[in-house]
Amino acid sequence: MTSIPEFMTAKHRECDEFFIAAENAVADNNWSLAKQAFSQFSQELELHFQAEETILFPEFEQATGITQGPTQVMRGEHQQMRALVADLLQALSADDKDGYIGASETLMVLMQQHNMKEEMMLYPMTQQRVPAPEALLASVVEHCQSPVSD
Ligand SMILES: [Fe+2]
Ligand SMILES: [Fe+2]
Repeated sequence: MTSIPEFMTAKHRECDEFFIAAENAVADNNWSLAKQAFSQFSQELELHFQAEETILFPEFEQATGITQGPTQVMRGEHQQMRALVADLLQALSADDKDGYIGASETLMVLMQQHNMKEEMMLYPMTQQRVPAPEALLASVVEHCQSPVSD
């Protein structure tokens, strides 16, 4: 069985691939492909954020007693990234190439920094500290396979 860090890191890479595909399609003025890739990206990303906010972070907080630390920072960054996703959607619907590329660069930097913090610190610590990492992983996996809810 894979570990929490392995599974979550693989999800970051999956999101990156859709995101890069969307950016490349915009650069090529292929708006229909861009919209398709972006919709895959935003769905995967939202599922991933929800798995962290509703399952993984609460378990981390309970296991470590740290509720005002890294998980709060990560939640705040999720909100910043959601705002950028909304900007990108708007640029896509207007076929606004410059607007898209600008917001896309900003999101890329933010997302890479965010993912690195989770991969280097938060995920390994979660794996080490929660009482039942296998059960936690199973619920995260299950969540990531379900359709996006609001
Ligand atoms: Fe996150
Ligand atoms: Fe993450």
